[in-house]
Amino acid sequence: MAKKMTIDEFLSLVRNRRSCRKFKPDPIPDEWINKILDAGRWAMSGANGQPWEFIVIKDQKTKDSIVDFYLQHRQRTYQVERTRIEEIRQPAFRVLHNEIPPLKSAPVVIAMVGDRRTLQASVLYGNFVPGEGGFGAPYHKNMANATQLICLAAASLGLGAQWASVNASWEESLKALLNVPQELAIPTLVPIGYPDYKAPAPYRRKLKELVHNEKYDSSRFRNGEDIYNFLLDLRERTRESYSKGV
Ligand SMILES: Cc1cc2nc3c(=O)[nH]c(=O)nc-3n(C[C@H](O)[C@H](O)[C@H](O)COP(=O)(O)O)c2cc1C
Repeated sequence: MAKKMTIDEFLSLVRNRRSCRKFKPDPIPDEWINKILDAGRWAMSGANGQPWEFIVIKDQKTKDSIVDFYLQHRQRTYQVERTRIEEIRQPAFRVLHNEIPPLKSAPVVIAMVGDRRTLQASVLYGNFVPGEGGFGAPYHKNMANATQLICLAAASLGLGAQWASVNASWEESLKALLNVPQELAIPTLVPIGYPDYKAPAPYRRKLKELVHNEKYDSSRFRNGEDIYNFLLDLRERTRESYSKGV
């Protein structure tokens, strides 16, 4: 019988999973890729709708094209980010750096493909009276769950992975490149490979700051200024994590 994982082993996996932003070029065995994707397949989804499909990309030419799209997107994002004072900008966009995006150096990139039509698995009522997050939110949550498990599975194999958000400004180009039908979407790309550096442990808020007993403790409610200060602090604490590029 398989050995039961302890909660401490599980927490250690969860705590030590890191977003990786620089990879070694060494290939990953196909068997591992299949196991990683199998973890994604077992993600929770609203009414078990399973909106996900995965494209496994290894071809360098395809990855190079993806990087070209991404770099154009990075340029646009940087211009908008520049409208904010420097201290509050997303750390990866304080300056327009020339780092090679992880999408290029990773031996494998998984394109997370989503099918919103699977939302029909859920109750119709949600189409008239949406739940938290608005219309279509369960689809995004479902895709996020699969992405999370894929990153976690990669970590369990000693691999690094990155959640690379795809934006409407380059999603269509990406879909055309990867031959993805109009009805489907690519919300996220996940480069996976052996980490080429030790990612610093990012800051997390303490449990006692987050947990409320029985009712929300309004004395701990953060006002606008608290959030602003939190963001300033967060930027300082996470700057190093982004030093490898996106
Ligand atoms: C919805 C979502 C979008 C994200 N988009 C990006 C991204 O585009 N680029 C990136 O480098 N990391 C991205 N991340 C990763 C986060 O930056 C990362 O999880 C966070 O900084 C905490 O670091 P950790 O993953 O090492 O714990 C994303 C994560 C989530 C959940």
